[in-house]
Amino acid sequence: MTAPVKHFLQFKDFTREEFEYLFLRTHIIKRKFKAYHQYWPLTDRTLVMIFEKASTRTRLSFEAGMQQLGGSAIYLNTRDSQLGRGEPVEDAGKVISRMSDIVLIRTYEQSIIERFAANSHVPVINGLTNEYHPCQVLADIYTYVEQRGSIQGKTVAWIGDSNNMCNTWLQAAEILDFNVHVSTPPGYEVEPERAGLYGHKNYEEFTDPMEAAQGADLVSTDVWTSMGFEAENDERMKDFADWQVDQDMMQIAAKDALFMHCLPAHRGEEVSAEVIDGPQSVVWDEAENRLHVQKALMEYQLLGKIDESWQD
Ligand code: CP
Ligand code: NVA
Repeated sequence: MTAPVKHFLQFKDFTREEFEYLFLRTHIIKRKFKAYHQYWPLTDRTLVMIFEKASTRTRLSFEAGMQQLGGSAIYLNTRDSQLGRGEPVEDAGKVISRMSDIVLIRTYEQSIIERFAANSHVPVINGLTNEYHPCQVLADIYTYVEQRGSIQGKTVAWIGDSNNMCNTWLQAAEILDFNVHVSTPPGYEVEPERAGLYGHKNYEEFTDPMEAAQGADLVSTDVWTSMGFEAENDERMKDFADWQVDQDMMQIAAKDALFMHCLPAHRGEEVSAEVIDGPQSVVWDEAENRLHVQKALMEYQLLGKIDESWQD
């Protein structure tokens, strides 16, 4: 019997044990990369990347990552493929997965990627939907672990919109057993069902963002207007004005608190320049770690667990 296809459509598709394995592999793969050690376990494998929204980091890290593992990557977007001309997503899933080994999709509703995956013979990865951004949170948590050790029992403050990043942090908290203090403006609160949560054990909501940040080990935020919500931009600028991560907020977090942002950022809106460019910010490490965690992810989805150690 063949093993079921291992999709990564939302954070809770993987277990805690699988994430621990991925962090271990990321560490090894990152060290090989830094040492210019050629590592081509995915020779002849093809990644198809489908983008319905803009991207810098996701496209680059997947394309570079697949090439660095010995495979190749093909970029498709909605504008110049049949995907933008009404071909059913189920048909696209059947066809694209017959010609490739793994597929990355950035799209709008989560239901689109779920329908694609249900018709795909090969693993599908969520490169961002309206609801979730699991690859980013995977990189963020790896970055936390790299800098501070285990995230279990720690407190993450989420300041701003209850968007795809927030939902994914909340799912991750349930799986990896940490806490999230969420503060959103009124009217933008977490929707537990949309976030795909099992319960309410790992998060607490605060009307005052300063209270949410108090004593936090990690403070994170994101743009006030996510892709696909541009029509609400003017209203959001007003509604989110008091939800900026600034130096005063970082000062009431834990002394060694880190600041994270998935990028792209808007200095002077959701974060002050002083914070994002300051000593507690690890945003460039987060961005780089997208490359390393996703290489570990694709290796795991295509080859399963690898038994290998790596010496400096
Ligand atoms: N953080 C992130 O996903 O960036 P891109 O939109 O540039 O891919
Ligand atoms: N929440 C943002 C993340 C961008 C990487 C968006 O969806 O636009």
